[in-house]
Amino acid sequence: MKLKIAILPGDGIGPEIMKQGVAVLNAVAEKCGHEFTYEEALVGACAIEACGDPYPEATHQACMNADAVLFAAVGDLKYDNNPTLKVRPETGLLAMRKKLGLFANVRPVATFDCLLHKSPLKEELLRGADFVVLRELTGGMYFGEKYQDNDKAYDTDVYTRPEIERILKVAFEMAMQRRKHLTVVDKANVLASSRLWRQIAKEMEPQYPEVQTDYMFIDNASMRVLTEPRFFDVIVTENTFGDILTDETSCITGSMGLQPSSSLGEHTPLFEPVHGSWPQAAGQNLANPLAQILSAAMLLEHFGLKEEGALIRKAVDASLDANVRTPEIQVEGGQKYGTREVGEWIVNYIKAN
Ligand code: IPM
Ligand code: MN
Repeated sequence: MKLKIAILPGDGIGPEIMKQGVAVLNAVAEKCGHEFTYEEALVGACAIEACGDPYPEATHQACMNADAVLFAAVGDLKYDNNPTLKVRPETGLLAMRKKLGLFANVRPVATFDCLLHKSPLKEELLRGADFVVLRELTGGMYFGEKYQDNDKAYDTDVYTRPEIERILKVAFEMAMQRRKHLTVVDKANVLASSRLWRQIAKEMEPQYPEVQTDYMFIDNASMRVLTEPRFFDVIVTENTFGDILTDETSCITGSMGLQPSSSLGEHTPLFEPVHGSWPQAAGQNLANPLAQILSAAMLLEHFGLKEEGALIRKAVDASLDANVRTPEIQVEGGQKYGTREVGEWIVNYIKAN
């Protein structure tokens, strides 16, 4: 298969983990006879530095012209420490999601048996947990009308019926492909936008009689994902709740550095780690490249390359079993491997298997 992939390394640890992600894609291409071509483009703080815009038009064109986007991370301390700056790296990511119409953000939460002890939660509670958080990505407070002066500020939590219907459709269909259990997470006891979500979900339920649908408030869900993670199969929720919930669920996996995601919608699909740009570690060969590498696996699987995706996942599992791990998940006293060494080990495994 021929695939044209836009490569957006972004900021901080982004370029280092991206390098490993691309190396893994190249190894798969060579092994399985595919042709992947790449076009690299700027996004985030590096794009602001270069041209004053965190999502330049040239980057948008590169994304629109590609079959898929592989994205790493954006963000820089310079902006985090100065909240008055209006042009921010994160604005680039949000503009990209909006312009590409990427309304469905798929964030799988799975455990690795050999890393259960790395979670602060009890192993027996986690074993076998396997669910997906489907986060709406182009609506809600992120994109609603905003206002700020010295004495007053607000963000509007707006959702329209078509926006809710299209994400719920993805959710019901995803549940049909999995264990047929959907949990709609909202705050319908307080928020009007949540009440519309719940109303529309109830309207759609009869179209999916096989799916067991339940409703949970976000505060309760935040607790239940930690106390009873095996309860969940597909969770669907709005933008802000989904953002918060998926940082929380990363402690089920044991490290933020292990969670990939895909963002799907109207235009080019995008694949990116759930974690951020960790600017403090930039250039130090410390960051875990696995979320990026697993995002590449999701990319291939999206195009029906199931075996190729499985090969990458097998290589990742093997690296963990062989204790070829970055510091945050290394066994006590074990050798610490860098971003590059973990990536190279996985590339070699793919070549040899
Ligand atoms: C994420 C990130 C982004 C978000 C930031 C960087 C704007 O936290 O992808 O989860 O809030 O969506
Ligand atoms: Mn987030």
